[in-house]
Amino acid sequence: MTDLHTSAAPPGTPATDVYGPLLQQALQHSLDYFAGLPGRPVKALATDDELHRLLGGPVPDDPAAPEDVLTQLVSGVDRGLVPTGNGRYLGYVVGGTLPVAMAADWLTSAWDQNCIVHDISPATSVVEEICAAWLIDLFGLPARTSAAFVPACTHAELLCLAAARHKVLAQHGWNVAERGMRGAPEVAVLINGEAHTAVVRSLEILGLGGSIRRIAVDAEARMLPAALDAALNETAGMPLIVSGQVGEINTGGIDHLRMLCDKTHAVGGWVHLDAAFGMWAAASPTLRRNVADGIELADSWATDAHKWLNTPYDGGVAMIADPDAHRAALPLDAGYLQLQPDQRHPVEWGLEVSRRSRVFPIWAALRQLGRSGVADLVDRCCAHALRIAQTLSAVEGIEVLNDVTLNQVTVRFTPASGPDGSDAHTLRVVERFQQLGESWASPSRWQDRTVLRLCLINWATTEADIDRAAASLIQCHRELRDAPLQA
Ligand SMILES: Cc1ncc(COP(=O)(O)O)c(C=O)c1O
Repeated sequence: MTDLHTSAAPPGTPATDVYGPLLQQALQHSLDYFAGLPGRPVKALATDDELHRLLGGPVPDDPAAPEDVLTQLVSGVDRGLVPTGNGRYLGYVVGGTLPVAMAADWLTSAWDQNCIVHDISPATSVVEEICAAWLIDLFGLPARTSAAFVPACTHAELLCLAAARHKVLAQHGWNVAERGMRGAPEVAVLINGEAHTAVVRSLEILGLGGSIRRIAVDAEARMLPAALDAALNETAGMPLIVSGQVGEINTGGIDHLRMLCDKTHAVGGWVHLDAAFGMWAAASPTLRRNVADGIELADSWATDAHKWLNTPYDGGVAMIADPDAHRAALPLDAGYLQLQPDQRHPVEWGLEVSRRSRVFPIWAALRQLGRSGVADLVDRCCAHALRIAQTLSAVEGIEVLNDVTLNQVTVRFTPASGPDGSDAHTLRVVERFQQLGESWASPSRWQDRTVLRLCLINWATTEADIDRAAASLIQCHRELRDAPLQA
């Protein structure tokens, strides 16, 4: 046991004495947390004031014993945690965590590898090469596709779109890395009308915000071919980036990818795909055939392992079919780095210099699941989505608005008095559903209507979870449908 008033063990203390008690404590807390997950209300319980009281106050004057620090952290945050690992958490697009990926993530912290260049962590560089090759194979992408392991999909969009900007401007004789954007040829940027903010944000950061044109979409958030044609005609001759959607956040809708790529390439443009969660559909033979046909024809893809591969956070992946554009978009001038040729240096493929070896949990998840396991995880989540959609839509006053081909379900609740109050009634149902804590999902706006969005993306979700979530929603709807709405 460490002295209560010191923050570090005396020099010479064996590693087992320094780390052992702390890691045992962390292990026990983790096991208790996982054991409690199924029984916890699926919501946070603490107020912010409570969390401040337990964890805040002025900067502590004195060190504390590490064991006490962990105890305070665990008891302080506990009621403020949202149990997203519970199979009935259906909010946002969050994803569960496979136990093997969580354990590998823990080891990643223990190993504390900074992976700027190959010689700091050869294991990281090689495992990145392996995972890049595995992902490219799983998704059926062109063999020369390069990959970067980045914090999150937003970061992956930025990287992919930077490569796109570099390439389309280079085709018009402009090296953006050397010359910047002032005086550059104007780039035409066509995006899916329901594009995620991550795409828009990245384009804005790249100085392309003013060039964005949103292409009208159908009820499943797929670009309308005629609207795309019209925009391509209007922008003919300009450097061109087209950003398509593989998994829109409300409907799970996927653009007509083959058509999108064919039309864009016919006029020399670059196709980027925001595939934060939908990319994983390409790893399921059935879904690939049904909804992701042609995905391999794009020029760049942004995705998250921390979504549908169920790794812990920090699992973004950028994939770029043109490795030269990838590298050219990331100028690097640092003579102090040992950049031996023929080795992978992570800094050459991503924006960060120092960073952790975030690839190990991805390797662990892929190694455990294998090709068939990834397909099974994805297919199972889609089957759950269909099951909850069918259960809900069988009830009077509950309507599923989307064609449930992936893992997202968009639901609308209508009160007994008719559709006029559906926005307000839907919100009331969602609030009540969240309060009950049996399950959790969030409201959204979809095509000018308030909806509930259910996302099925956790390996731990069972049919029993789905049925409990549906029963809770139906109960809330029935309780509230006759209650008068507040003016
Ligand atoms: C479709 C889509 N694109 C992009 C993102 C952004 O991903 P990240 O939160 O990993 O940056 C999300 C996140 O939910 C998403 O669903």
